[in-house]
Parts: sequence; structure tokens; C-alpha cells
Amino acid sequence: MDWERYEQDADEALQAASNSDEVESVSVAFLGRSSPLKLALREVRDRETGMKLNAIREAVERAVAEKRAAVEAAELERRLTEEVVDVTLPAELLGPVKPRRRGSLHPSTQVRRDVEDIFLGLGYEIVDDREVETTRYNFDALGFPPWHPARSPRASLYFDSDTLLRTETSPAQIHKMERQRPPIYMLSIGRVYRRDTIDATHFPIFHQFEGLVIDKGITMADLKGTLLYVMRELYGPDREVRFRTHYFPFTEPSMEPDVSCFQCGGAGCAICKHSGWIEMGGSGIVDPYLYEFVGWEPEEYTGFAFGMGIERTAQLRHRIPGIRPFWDNDLRFLRQF
Ligand code: DAH
Repeated sequence: MDWERYEQDADEALQAASNSDEVESVSVAFLGRSSPLKLALREVRDRETGMKLNAIREAVERAVAEKRAAVEAAELERRLTEEVVDVTLPAELLGPVKPRRRGSLHPSTQVRRDVEDIFLGLGYEIVDDREVETTRYNFDALGFPPWHPARSPRASLYFDSDTLLRTETSPAQIHKMERQRPPIYMLSIGRVYRRDTIDATHFPIFHQFEGLVIDKGITMADLKGTLLYVMRELYGPDREVRFRTHYFPFTEPSMEPDVSCFQCGGAGCAICKHSGWIEMGGSGIVDPYLYEFVGWEPEEYTGFAFGMGIERTAQLRHRIPGIRPFWDNDLRFLRQF
């Protein structure tokens, strides 16, 4: 056997191989267990022949390994450029797969985002705020008198005598005023907590959105115009807004805004309890007491504030009869939105 020739033949065969299968065949033919080289190695009797054949074996093995690495690199390169998956294709075009059911946002989240969009469009800044409050911010700063029933541990959830879960988003007003001088156009959305017994319309956790505007020359007309715009965005272009006088410790005067019923247009139906109007929350002109609390001149600015419920908004928009399903995480409910 001409072993120099054998090595050359192996090199030529490797050169002709263009993929890893062909490299494997060459390897089997020249290095495999029944290849002439391996058979000859088994028969070796003298040291010199053994050294020579082993040198041939090592050379062929090295050539095979180099070629294998080269074709594998080329194959990987080709797959990376050719096998491009168009991830935008509909699933059924990619193969026989059952598309997964799409999730959806929780109805509270949907309303929250809609409300944020509306106020961002009006140029308001959206701020987050703390859920654990002190009585100083939750009550004192907002003008709640010491005897106010909301301060009772029967009504609110306390950690200790002066730390509690906020009962409304209104303390965000004070934090904002302490951070920044007017002009202030702020919207704060978040969870609030009350020690309510769960029933169809009460749950100890719910969400509110709270607006605060403070600037020079702000009047009740600005408040009404703003709420009219927001209610029309939320409930349709034909809505009207009316104010009923009310009382809140941190606004003077205080108003409860009503929106004309989107179901009956004012004629009277079950949703508006046959009054033609739906109660939306609280609002009013910022009490100068708040300016004094944060150390401003009471007469320098004027402003308005309002607070409303997120779940209540979602209930009205989707005709959801109670508040409990918002917290049950029952997919039969959630999948409807
Ligand atoms: N915080 C009040 C509540 O939870 C709602 C409210 C009323 C917010 C008047 C305001 C406001 O900002 O000005 O019942």
C-alpha cells in the first residue's frame, strides 16, 4: 500500500466534500474501523511501520477535523442568513398550530389608561403617589377636623395611631404642592383603602383618579369646562354636566358633578335611577387653607380639584352591576373586556 498516496486521496476526497455528511463519509472511508488504514494498523508488527501509519492517521484526522469545522461554520452561516422567520406572519401560515387565546387588560386598567390619555391630552402631568400615608397628609393637611368620622379606626385601615392606608387620592395634592409651585396641572391615579364591609357596591380597595389645577385666575368655569370635556371623552359627545353643592373639607365651595345619563339621555332609566343624571364623584375650588398649610400666600393662586372612582367609571361604561367582580379574577368576567 502506498500510504503517501492514501493520504493524498483522503485530502482530495475532503476537498470535494461540500457538507458535513460528505465529510463524515470521507472520515469513515479513510479512518473508519474497516478502512485500509485501520486494518493495516491492526496488523503492524514492527515499530517503524507503526510510527509511519500513525503519522498518516494523525494527518488524515487533522484534515478531517479542519474540513468538518469549515463546513459546519459555512452551514451555520447559511442557515442564519436563509432561515429567516417572519414573526409578523399569522400563526396558521407558519404551520398547523392553534393560536393562543389573547389576553386583555383588566377593565380597571383600561379605564385608567383612557383617563390618563385624556388628561395627557389636556397637558396634565400624571403622578404616582404613596399608598401608606400619615394622618397629617391624609387628614390634617386636607382640613379634616379632629372629630371627622373618616379618622376612626372603624372607617380606615391603620398601621399605628398616625399611619394608615390612604382613604382617598387627595393627599397627592399636598405632596405635589410641597414639591412644586404653580402652575400645577396634575392627575394622580391609584388605590385607596377603606374599612368597608364587602357588598355589591363596596370593597375595601378601589381606585380613584384625582385632578389638581392651581394657577393664577383659575375659576369654577375652568373646573366645569374641564369636567364637561372629560365626561364627553369618557361617555360620549352629547353628555352634559351639572353641579350639586356639597361639602368636602379641602374645597370651598364644594361640588358633586353629575353627568347626564348616557343610557336614556336624561329621560330616566334604571342606570340613572330615573333621575336623568349620574353622580360622578367630588370636586371644588381648592380651599386656601391648603395653600397656607404648604406655606404659600392664601390669595396668590386659585385652583380646582376633583376626585372620581375608576371602578365606578368602568361599571358605568360596561354596565357592570357590582364592584366585586373587579377583584375576583374570574376569567369568565375578565374575558368579556
Ligand atoms: N376625596 C374625595 C372622596 O374620596 C373626592 C374628592 C372630592 C376629591 C373633592 C377632590 C375634591 O379632589 O376636590 O370622596
